[in-house]
Amino acid sequence: MRLFSFNLLSLLFFLSTSHLLVSSSPSNYFSFSFPSFPSSTSNNFDFSTDASVSQGALQITPDTINDLAYLLNRSGRILYSRSFRLWESNRTASFNTSFSINIYRPSNTTPTGEGLAFIIAPDADGPPPGSYGGFLGLTNSTTDGRSSNRIVAVEFDTVKQAYDPDDNHVGLDINGVTSEISASLTPFGIQIAPVEAVNYTVWIDYDGRQGAIGVYMTRKGEPKPEKPVLAGKVDLSRYVNQDSYFGFAAATGAKDYELNCVLDWTLTVENLDDEDKKGGWKVAAGIAAGVVVLAVVAGTATALWYSKNRRKREKKAMVDPSALAGTLKSLPGMPREFEYKELRKATNGFDERMKLGQGGFGIVYKGVIAGEATEVAVKKFSREDNMNSQDDFLKELTVINRLRHKHLVRLLGWCHENGVLLLVYDYMPNGSLDQHLYGGSTAGQFVLPWNRRIQVAADVASALHYLHHEYDECVVHRDLKSSNVMLDAAFHARLGDFGLARVLDTDKTSYAELEAAGVPGTLGYIAPECFHTAKATRESDLFAFGALLLELVCGRRPRCTDLSNFNFLVDWVWILHRDGRILEAVDEKLEGNFVADEARRMLLLGLACSHPLPGERPKAGVIIQILAGSVSPPVVPAFKPAFMWPAAEPARHEGGSGGLSSMSSLLTSSSLYGSSTAWTPPYVSSDRHGDV
Ligand SMILES: *[C@@H]1O[C@H](CO)[C@@H](O)[C@H](O)[C@H]1NC(C)=O
Ligand SMILES: *[C@@H]1O[C@H](CO)[C@@H](O)[C@H](O)[C@H]1NC(C)=O
Ligand SMILES: *[C@@H]1O[C@H](CO)[C@@H](O)[C@H](O)[C@H]1NC(C)=O
Ligand SMILES: *[C@@H]1O[C@H](CO)[C@@H](O)[C@H](O)[C@H]1NC(C)=O
Ligand SMILES: *[C@@H]1O[C@H](CO)[C@@H](O)[C@H](O)[C@H]1NC(C)=O
Repeated sequence: MRLFSFNLLSLLFFLSTSHLLVSSSPSNYFSFSFPSFPSSTSNNFDFSTDASVSQGALQITPDTINDLAYLLNRSGRILYSRSFRLWESNRTASFNTSFSINIYRPSNTTPTGEGLAFIIAPDADGPPPGSYGGFLGLTNSTTDGRSSNRIVAVEFDTVKQAYDPDDNHVGLDINGVTSEISASLTPFGIQIAPVEAVNYTVWIDYDGRQGAIGVYMTRKGEPKPEKPVLAGKVDLSRYVNQDSYFGFAAATGAKDYELNCVLDWTLTVENLDDEDKKGGWKVAAGIAAGVVVLAVVAGTATALWYSKNRRKREKKAMVDPSALAGTLKSLPGMPREFEYKELRKATNGFDERMKLGQGGFGIVYKGVIAGEATEVAVKKFSREDNMNSQDDFLKELTVINRLRHKHLVRLLGWCHENGVLLLVYDYMPNGSLDQHLYGGSTAGQFVLPWNRRIQVAADVASALHYLHHEYDECVVHRDLKSSNVMLDAAFHARLGDFGLARVLDTDKTSYAELEAAGVPGTLGYIAPECFHTAKATRESDLFAFGALLLELVCGRRPRCTDLSNFNFLVDWVWILHRDGRILEAVDEKLEGNFVADEARRMLLLGLACSHPLPGERPKAGVIIQILAGSVSPPVVPAFKPAFMWPAAEPARHEGGSGGLSSMSSLLTSSSLYGSSTAWTPPYVSSDRHGDV
């Protein structure tokens, strides 16, 4: 019970520090409210290519006034990244939403176009190709009007098409851009895209019982008008998917363009699921109990976190447990808590035949969640005493949960019961990279072709760039290696297991032990300075990335046993580089089927990332450009530079030998295996600038 209460409080504080205010009224609603869109809110949305959060607003189509040509023929979507249940067999959910828009004219001399729409979509995908112009990012000339689109939208259209009343109207669109009903806004004194920018607020109320929809609109800051600008009937259950996404779509045209900005957004959706109502009360009871227990047993971990978050917490000192009923449940995209028996059932009682692989900390099983037909990967941690505390774990979860990137494996949920920790991830049908490089049970004799290796390198680089630079705070992966690079159905790479190193106590699991336990190669990914600092940094991630690059090209593990004079792949490649025959390092299994220029580029980049001095390693942004071929690879010295510690001082006794001898002697150094408190570098690193 105690642990349970801690986890709820962790979530609670996560909530209070989040920009997103998720609340749940006493009755049963899901609700969110974004008073504005600072960049940290971007994790809550799915963006199409040119869409973004910038200037504190959602920019549905490109946000630029410097390159007007770029604004032509664009379509975009931004959707809230979680779906909502909109109907059941006998009822349809009601919802209310309000948002403010600013349709901006970058140029007074061109007409505006084409429009923005509030959309209910079947998935969180981007707009279909060719959906610019009058298609408003909703449909295209092929799909327009098809019932398979599963789209209902309210459009704010600034161009008159043959089927439109004028160039300043609102319309209700069902699966197509020819509105079912529409109305000019001019009689209401509203100009959607006036010459002098105006912010407007829109309210859309939908009553699921009556199937009635009402749209209200006025200048931002004014109260909601009595009279709707558009009112009609639509039975959503006939047109949209049972679980649908809410968001915005917009487009610009061939000659006319506009900036389509959403400044704030609030949504309340009726919750149809009676189960959740009960769940909500369970959670509420848990919180109430948790607050009491906490008052009595203030655990050290919690106390620690308290002091860190004191400033923020003071704002929300008093927690009213009843007001939080259901809040945790409605936390957007929060990994859900599974029951042990649910996961046991999903994996056939952790059947050996469902085993996907074995990692340092546990075994991964394939599973199918009953009633959902979704395939998942369930990671079962082998030793409970590996975990620092559930509190740490949940803190980690809140961070992991907010990371969204197409090259990160999605964490779906977790379970911690009877001392067993289980994590549930998206199932990756093509397993992990090492299985393909070294032939595992699932990969058979198949050799990973060259173009897939290039793709994997680019995907991992983009995920690292996101973690290191694009996310609000710098996040360090700290456990990058080929067994953590997963491949999806299209062989795109996704990083898994990020952040877990910190919550799993490394006290009792040395790297040597890991290797003995059948987790080979771990050692070759660890940057030399880590043996001194025991601190993961962006630079140590980049070192691991270098090892991974060499591994991809050479088809050998970073720490290899089959190269006669070398214990580390990097040392062998470096010698080949010195001798001017670096391409001899390329995986023989490819039988010459590779592109020499690309291979050379990747090998040199791999060596550059393996530089013993952390500050010398290229950053993720440059790595992406080098891999793409737009920047030439770094100049790599003929001899591997000496490792120096501290980096700023001249070499002392360790200087010169980067091979196993120095590594293994350092392995016994207690600094690496200090107490768990010593090995707790902040997962979210404060040094964004990468100083060592
Ligand atoms: C709808 O059907 C479910 C069972 O399928 C039932 O529990 C619920 O009470 C029904 N609701 C209404 C409004 O009829
Ligand atoms: C929407 O707003 C109407 C009128 O303000 C209110 O009666 C209704 O309960 C609201 N519905 C939801 C789902 O919030
Ligand atoms: C419209 O979109 C569909 C996929 O959503 C695509 O297959 C089709 O080619 C697109 N049509 C045009 C004209 O771009
Ligand atoms: C519109 O809203 C934005 C963001 O709140 C604000 O910066 C801008 O001044 C507003 N524009 C007008 C014309 O009110
Ligand atoms: C925009 O699309 C139209 C056809 O839909 C095409 O004629 C025009 O050249 C395109 N303009 C640009 C700038 O791509």
